[in-house]
Parts: sequence; structure tokens; C-alpha cells
Amino acid sequence: GAPVEVDIAGMAPGEMKTVEWRGKPVWILKRSPEMVESLKKTDAQVADPKSERNKDDLTPEYARNEYRSIKPEILVAVGICSHLGCSPSSKFQAGAQPSLPDDWQGGFLCPCHGSTFDLAGRVFKNKPAPDNLQVPRHMYLSETKLVIG
Ligand code: FES
Repeated sequence: GAPVEVDIAGMAPGEMKTVEWRGKPVWILKRSPEMVESLKKTDAQVADPKSERNKDDLTPEYARNEYRSIKPEILVAVGICSHLGCSPSSKFQAGAQPSLPDDWQGGFLCPCHGSTFDLAGRVFKNKPAPDNLQVPRHMYLSETKLVIG
């Protein structure tokens, strides 16, 4: 598939865009400072905090950090659950869903079997999904222009 160019100029903190790349949904989330900060809290709650599992497929070298991204505020991730391939939905607010814990920091919930992911696409412990969400290959052409693929 051809690479996909995305203009991220003017995205507000907390805003998410979805683009299609190779027939898959790819999320671009502009994390607010609080969202970036929340990753420190979820570090201890996720199954693979350093993205060491299947890293060649799931996490390009430049995203093998706590943010799983090139820029801390921009997450780029394939929106497909690593369990059986459903598409998780964004649950940024605590209390957005009764099944989410009280100390929910925001993230994603898969409707199929309840796997949850933090705001870096890292899967929480003891969930059916075995892996973090995939971070696709991507790069910046400029401050506001991103290329996926
Ligand atoms: Fe997502 Fe099963 S497909 S939890």
C-alpha cells in the first residue's frame, strides 16, 4: 500500500483523527500534557511497558520509549485489537464506561472481549489481548505533516 500523508496542523490537545492505511484504521491522537503524564501512572499496570514483545512488528525503533512515539504528544497507532482484530474505541474520560476502573487514566476499550489499552496503545495486564497496539512505520516531513507507511 502507498504511504498516507496526514496534516496534523491545528489539532487540539485531546483530539483524535483516524485515517485509513492499507485498509486499516490508523489513529493519530494529539495527547494533552495530562494525557502524556498519565503514561507514568499506567507504566506499572500495562503488560509490556517497554514494548519489548514482537517489537519488530509492533514498535519501530524510534517508538520504543514510554510514549511509543517520535513526539511525546503525538500517538500514531493501528486501531486493531491484538486479540481477535476488533476495533477498540476511545474512552478518554473516567466513568465513560461502567467496566472501566475508577482510576482510569483514559485510553481505549475493545468492545469484543474487554481488553483495555492506555494512551500509548499499551495493553493492560490480564486482558485477552496479548500485545500492545501496533505503531506503524511513520515519519515527519515537517512540524505538521506526517507520513504513515
Ligand atoms: Fe479485542 Fe478480543 S478482539 S479483546
